[in-house]
Amino acid sequence: MLTVAVLISGAGSNLRALLDAVADPGFPASVVAVGADREADGFAHAEDFGIPTFLVPWESYSSREEWGAALGEQLDVWKPDLVVLSGLMRLLPASLVEAWAPRIINTHPAYLPEFPGAHGVRDALAAGVTQTGASVIVVDTGVDTGPILAQERVPVLPDDDEHSLHDRIKPVERRLLIDVVHRIATGDLDLAAESTP
Ligand code: GAR
Repeated sequence: MLTVAVLISGAGSNLRALLDAVADPGFPASVVAVGADREADGFAHAEDFGIPTFLVPWESYSSREEWGAALGEQLDVWKPDLVVLSGLMRLLPASLVEAWAPRIINTHPAYLPEFPGAHGVRDALAAGVTQTGASVIVVDTGVDTGPILAQERVPVLPDDDEHSLHDRIKPVERRLLIDVVHRIATGDLDLAAESTP
């Protein structure tokens, strides 16, 4: 059974979908803890499933490095096989990424390498593209530059705003994320091999 820790910052709708998926006894992974950099609404989903949560408040630390060290201490408590960034809106310090690589993956609401960063949906709209997408990647020390594990196109419709487009992307992200976690758990997807240049 693959053990997973999930890190969030917001509503946690993708976390919810993952928790629903792993609740199936036939799913070969389990979520052992959910962490966040702020009092995230998504903690409620973890509580619904009786999953422990931990908070490492960004504002309580004077540097990214110190915050990342505290986050790493929490992850060391749970020692998950895999860390999923599911809407964590902070960059991890390189020291933490390097300590866990290649076992941290991230979902992103764009077809990487298009529109990396914190505003993937807004940036796609601003660029006037007719299609964007969703991606699941291995986290490296860059901003959304790691190896792509899965991605799929999503059309941009003429009347889309950031909200409507993001709402259409998220179900695709969820499907990709659940599939990637499943494939990692079965050994079908080897993160080390995916991360070898
Ligand atoms: C998701 O679309 C995720 O890809 C995005 O935040 C959303 C979280 O939604 N993450 C990023 O943009 C990271 N650069 P949720 O809290 O409802 O799951």
